[in-house]
Amino acid sequence: MESVLYDFAGVTEAAALASYPWIGRGKKIEADDAATCAMRERLNRMSIKGSIVIGEGEMDEAPMLYIGEAVGLGGGPDLDIAVDPLEGTNLTVTGSSHSIAVIAAAPKGMLLQAPDMYMDKIAVGPKAAGHIDIEAPLPVNMRAVAAATGKRVDELCVMIQNRERHKELVRTVLDQGARVRLFDDGDVSFSIAAALELGLADLFVGIGGSPEGVISAVALKCLGGEMQARLLPANAAEYERCVSMGLSDPGRPLGMEQLTGSGDCLFAATGITEGLFLRGVRESAGGRSTHTLLLHSKGRTKRFIETHHSSFLKE
Ligand code: FBP
Repeated sequence: MESVLYDFAGVTEAAALASYPWIGRGKKIEADDAATCAMRERLNRMSIKGSIVIGEGEMDEAPMLYIGEAVGLGGGPDLDIAVDPLEGTNLTVTGSSHSIAVIAAAPKGMLLQAPDMYMDKIAVGPKAAGHIDIEAPLPVNMRAVAAATGKRVDELCVMIQNRERHKELVRTVLDQGARVRLFDDGDVSFSIAAALELGLADLFVGIGGSPEGVISAVALKCLGGEMQARLLPANAAEYERCVSMGLSDPGRPLGMEQLTGSGDCLFAATGITEGLFLRGVRESAGGRSTHTLLLHSKGRTKRFIETHHSSFLKE
């Protein structure tokens, strides 16, 4: 994994650079295609034997980076790969903050093969890892996080996606005297922001996409944080889909072991638009610059990489 670590930063940089011309243009499909195409092209230049476990959709609905697609030149490590070339499509095409290009990888067979559906999630950083329980009520988790981080409950800040379905969660946080930080889109960025311990937030809760959940879980593992989740099949067809993918009890709580497996894993994210902890792609003299977070669970390394691309158009 070590041998290909930096190549993964190149993969998300390529996707972010390809998305850049689409910022604020209102064209979701074009923006997504550009990011996906660039990411796939980069992955296919890597010395890995990769298999997409979380991608742009099923083979019949996505021409590129579909679930089950083989990527890489072969040779090198045999990897499960989870991608979201454009996390926050809306954010990108409306010129709003917090969109990123993101990838996560683990040895083959380790990542949860989650069907694309909603997932209930709770995530924290290293200090509160081991103190949360997705089956417990939110106030119980808040008290546990407060105790683990040495804060009062009313000093906590909770990240929640600004959706109707989260009204009750928001009310609960406010009733506890704590603060919410509501965000429009971008589960991955905001769950990581809660785990980075930069004073941005202490806890992330709510329902979002399951692909984003697995990708975030990898980042949290690399950071020493924790995510717990529970798939929420909306109907019989989604329930059956879970079962056919090997999840015999789709409603059961999923811990780090189920989400990310037990092995080494890595995570890379490059900012597309400005974010909480990543700058967006910027024009600079003679080229463009990118800002990437590169995480590796082995040794728990966290690198912020600023790259100047003077000839990115020719790559
Ligand atoms: P996309 O980049 O695929 O648009 O996802 C953005 C996102 O905010 C995710 O981070 C989140 O998990 C999901 O949408 C929530 O879905 P919904 O918009 O249905 O609430």
